[in-house]
Amino acid sequence: MSRSQKPNTPKGSSTDPTQLKAIAHAAVDWFSKHSRDLPWRRTRIAYRIWISECMLQQTQVTTVIPYYEKFLKRFPDVQSLAASELDEVYQLWAGLGYYRRARQLHAAALEVVASGQLPFPADRDAIAKLPGIGRYTANAIASFAYDQPCGIVEANTQRLYARLIGCTEPLTQTPTQRKLWDFAEAIVSAWPRASGELNQALMEIGSQVCSPKAPACQRCPLQRHCKAHLTGMSDVIPAAKPKKTITELREIGFLICDPQGRWLLRRRQSSERWAGLWDFPRYDCTECQGDSSSLEHAMKEFGNVYGSKPRVSSECLSVKHSVTRYRILLRCYLAELDGAGAIDKKRVAARDETIRWCQTQELDLLGLSSSARKVADWLKKREF
Ligand code: ADE
Repeated sequence: MSRSQKPNTPKGSSTDPTQLKAIAHAAVDWFSKHSRDLPWRRTRIAYRIWISECMLQQTQVTTVIPYYEKFLKRFPDVQSLAASELDEVYQLWAGLGYYRRARQLHAAALEVVASGQLPFPADRDAIAKLPGIGRYTANAIASFAYDQPCGIVEANTQRLYARLIGCTEPLTQTPTQRKLWDFAEAIVSAWPRASGELNQALMEIGSQVCSPKAPACQRCPLQRHCKAHLTGMSDVIPAAKPKKTITELREIGFLICDPQGRWLLRRRQSSERWAGLWDFPRYDCTECQGDSSSLEHAMKEFGNVYGSKPRVSSECLSVKHSVTRYRILLRCYLAELDGAGAIDKKRVAARDETIRWCQTQELDLLGLSSSARKVADWLKKREF
């Protein structure tokens, strides 16, 4: 063992500093020639990087780009975001899904402004205290914006690291995650001068070369350091995820039109999926047997909240929507209410319900759930 080597970093192991430096060097060199030109890579402004990272959670790069540009045009800094109404943030988020991210973004902007950490918190630990920011996002912002030596582990880098260090265990296990984070922190420590560029490079290799299926090892700059490649295990690392069980849900929605041609909408409550977004009244009927019992159940539920049952004319649309481990089939019925006083306002208020009536064109301006957006698009195409 050489003098400079610590006993817990044996030469040739995944944390050998000399090898880590060689990996970092090869990654950064490759990145200088092959990186995609993405809008958030043209900036070192932490606020902008935060917005991009938030949008990129669970969403593909090509989908995010137009949302990112539009969002920053409307909210160029944390103060403008904090000064906005949450509904406007939802509007700009509509279609990206996972609306909790938008809510947390808005809450975090309020916290940054209230605490005076402008234009954005200046170090990793302060960033990590904000709502909606986990270890990956805090480290990504701190390294991309400020070159703080923080490692990153997300979908692309975790696959790359697992192959580099020859990790055969399922990636979701806690000890495996610890190993991957140790590797992530060790590699930025071995390349402290530009951790932002290094992390971007590792992420890009993970996404563009070290793909989940059929990784392009022949053009990988890290090939000679990769345990999975050297042992012929690139196609079995990472270990296959346990299959998630899909739960089918059936819902009935009411498209309730008033005599002025306006639609009844309600704001989803904090205990519900897609909390804060607007939606048509809809009810889970998964447990009901058959169509007529489902419809009867939904009408009764509607009556419990609004004070009278809807008068249903016809089934008009079904919408399929998948979210996390749920597959939802929403069947929509056109309906009306009997008379102007059909909604019992006291009852609605007692249940913390917020409702509004909207013309079809106004639906464009609301932060709707994705499935309600599909319904709204269908309404727009129809003449009533
Ligand atoms: N996914 C998450 N963050 C990303 C980034 N900064 N660039 C590309 N893809 C990403």
